[in-house]
Amino acid sequence: MAVELAGVVAVPGAPAPGTLPQIVFSGRSNVGKSSLINRFLGRTRKPVARVSATPGKTQQINFYRVQAEAAGGRKREFYVVDLPGYGFARVPESVRAAWRPLIERYLSGTRHIAGVVQLVDIRHEPTPDDRRMLEYLAALRLPVLVALTKADKLGASMRAARRAELAAALRLPVDQLVAFSAVTGEGRAELLGGVDALLAEPVR
Ligand code: GTP
Ligand code: MG
Repeated sequence: MAVELAGVVAVPGAPAPGTLPQIVFSGRSNVGKSSLINRFLGRTRKPVARVSATPGKTQQINFYRVQAEAAGGRKREFYVVDLPGYGFARVPESVRAAWRPLIERYLSGTRHIAGVVQLVDIRHEPTPDDRRMLEYLAALRLPVLVALTKADKLGASMRAARRAELAAALRLPVDQLVAFSAVTGEGRAELLGGVDALLAEPVR
């Protein structure tokens, strides 16, 4: 799981037609999804995903076309898919009601999803919406990695303990969870390795 992708080029806003595999990033509003995507893509100085001071701003599905090179020179080309965050209380009810059909239509109707990175704040318990999303992904038989965001807010031993606790709470093997920090870059190599492994599998 330590394969390093390099030379990531991301073109934001491109719609995702065709047959390139898609890696989807999902999580509640303000969990750190845009920050993680920018760090994941190595785009901390020229971010592609907007980190907003107003949570819940991203209300559409954004696609970033990515070219990367895995260990051994293997080329990888895929879409990073940024889903709108869910569960933000101050978003109008009409917008919240529209969220689920949009997401479910995309997740159930897209044949080229190689896997989903589900984000959960390392400091908090998974919300009912987080659990519902993970159940939905399992029902669709989509491979899932869980990124535990904002890991820099905890000390190293606390981070490891929370990873084990959250694995138990979500009934997932601990190696499916990655402690991640967009601030320090911790967990980036592991997440890249996990995504590379997803891309190596044939899509359903
Ligand atoms: P919305 O798109 O608005 O729903 O939020 P998001 O999930 O994309 O989160 P975003 O990346 O915009 O980050 C939300 C807040 O958390 C911002 O204030 C970020 O600076 C902060 N944040 C995100 N990731 C980290 C992290 O790894 N460490 C710390 N300390 N703060 C983070
Ligand atoms: Mg965002």
